[in-house]
Amino acid sequence: MSITRSIVLGCGSYLPARTLTNAELAGMVDTSDDWIVQRTGIRERHIAADGEFTSDLAVHAARDALAAAGLEPQAIDLIILATATPDHTFPASAVTVQAQLGITQGAAFDLQAVCSGFVFAIATADSLLRTGGFKRALVIGSETFTRILDWKDRTTCVIFGDGAGAVVLEAAPQAGTLADRGVLGAKMRSDGRHKSKLYVDGGPSTTGTAGYLRMEGKEVFRHAVTMITGAVEDVLAETGTKATDIDWFVPHQANQRIIDGCAHRLGVSRDKIVSTVDRHGNTSAASIPLALHTAVTDGRIKQGDLVMIEAMGGGFTWGAALIRW
Ligand code: UT7
Repeated sequence: MSITRSIVLGCGSYLPARTLTNAELAGMVDTSDDWIVQRTGIRERHIAADGEFTSDLAVHAARDALAAAGLEPQAIDLIILATATPDHTFPASAVTVQAQLGITQGAAFDLQAVCSGFVFAIATADSLLRTGGFKRALVIGSETFTRILDWKDRTTCVIFGDGAGAVVLEAAPQAGTLADRGVLGAKMRSDGRHKSKLYVDGGPSTTGTAGYLRMEGKEVFRHAVTMITGAVEDVLAETGTKATDIDWFVPHQANQRIIDGCAHRLGVSRDKIVSTVDRHGNTSAASIPLALHTAVTDGRIKQGDLVMIEAMGGGFTWGAALIRW
């Protein structure tokens, strides 16, 4: 039986040139390199330049992914941009990306699921591609979180950074077995009862300002491992796979302790974890595609590998997806 799967044709990323080290942060707030490394694993993060917007980062990552796929922009008929830091309240930053790439066909929209945005965007693009309504999608995670940080709040400003990553997905016939390439399964979850544990204290309908990120870090941490492992286990069950089948575990890069805790509980060995949190910090929806591109570029992720992505973030939102590369 032939079925349609969303297969990965290429992957790309972009990081702003400027890096901010823990030592520099220690000169700005009451913190230390030791505290940040021990509690989070983060050593440095990238910061977008003045005048460099979420859509600009996204366009760089998209062009990189298109080049890897060997495609011209006009081959794309769907753009889903996962972001919680859009250029403007509207229009969607995705249409700016679409225009900058010179794409005049199909549809482009933003998806807001904060740190789970890329997992939600993969699941959404996969659903739309499998309807036959679209042929090729650019799925992008792009963020300028440093623009919504309170630089006097040491509990949040040391955690986040800017960046973008993208993949090109194509609807392609596959055999309908576990050996297929493409998105094999995905799970999206949310529970709004937790919305005040990680939020931004502004918005167009409330304060009329962009606002600043606020987080009860300990509370988020407390739920993260349980929610993430639950979503991963659901995807494993749905696809008939085991944690030991996973070649590469590519988590949202929030905190090395959360990443290690999830891998340990799932029984994924350490050598299969792709971690970039030390160099990128938490780039929200961009962190998974940034990590994917890192592991593709250094030769770890190869065609045919089984890749599990997962994330949890504001809302709370959480989810996972299993992709045969
Ligand atoms: O991506 C979306 C999802 N977000 C996350 O997954 C984040 C989840 N949360 C976390 O990663 C962790 O909770 C943090 C890294 C944010 C904080 O780590 P923690 O181990 O939970 O620390 P804590 O909040 O319990 O704070 C411990 C101590 C406190 O001092 P006292 O009360 O023990 O005296 C804090 O005031 O560390 C203090 N502290 C700091 N010290 C130095 C908090 N932030 C800092 C800092 N530098 N930057």
